[in-house]
Amino acid sequence: MKFFVDTADIGEIRELAEMGILDGVTTNPSLVLKANRPIMEIIKDICDVVDGPVSAEVSALDYDSMIREGEILRKIADNVAIKVPLTWDGLKACRTFTGDGSMVNVTLCFSAPQALLAAKAGATFISPFVGRLDDMGIDGMELIQDIRTIYDNYPDFPTEILAASLRTTNHVKQAALAGADVSTIPPAIIKGLVKHPLTDKGLDQFVADWKKTGQTIG
Ligand code: E4P
Repeated sequence: MKFFVDTADIGEIRELAEMGILDGVTTNPSLVLKANRPIMEIIKDICDVVDGPVSAEVSALDYDSMIREGEILRKIADNVAIKVPLTWDGLKACRTFTGDGSMVNVTLCFSAPQALLAAKAGATFISPFVGRLDDMGIDGMELIQDIRTIYDNYPDFPTEILAASLRTTNHVKQAALAGADVSTIPPAIIKGLVKHPLTDKGLDQFVADWKKTGQTIG
């Protein structure tokens, strides 16, 4: 499973990229608001640091304006994935951009039929939002499982499942078990994956015992 980071914060992206565990980045208008910088600068800076797909979302809702904005965004770098909403116009824009050889991330997916339509429109990535479904009392991970089954039934579909709106380390585990191709994860959750109380406890014990040996290595 590929790891994308879900942030527009270049400092956090740099740290993860240097560690070599990052396969791409997703941003959205709310993350751009949080970063408080012009989107063109943000996406350019991220693409300078990360080789994999960097999702940049259009703000327009109608087809013509999405195409105009997407053209601007994709000129920033070759690894920009144009992010469009899962609407009729968004899917039309998806087909146009993928037909031109650009990557497209279709976002705000909340049902399997939506994901089916996105694959038919040639999406590079479909982004089902797990956490936002969980928030409503609906099992978001079941959606990932359903889409996996559907896409596996039709191996010609070009679309990768990008599990989004992941809020916990358990979401990441469940997305991997369900066969998501990609998980986009907030930086704090990526860092949380390393944590286990028994690792901390074991390490404390080893440090204490090593001191008692009176030895040094080298
Ligand atoms: C995905 O591309 C979105 O940016 C993101 O995962 C949304 O997550 P949220 O529901 O926590 O805002």
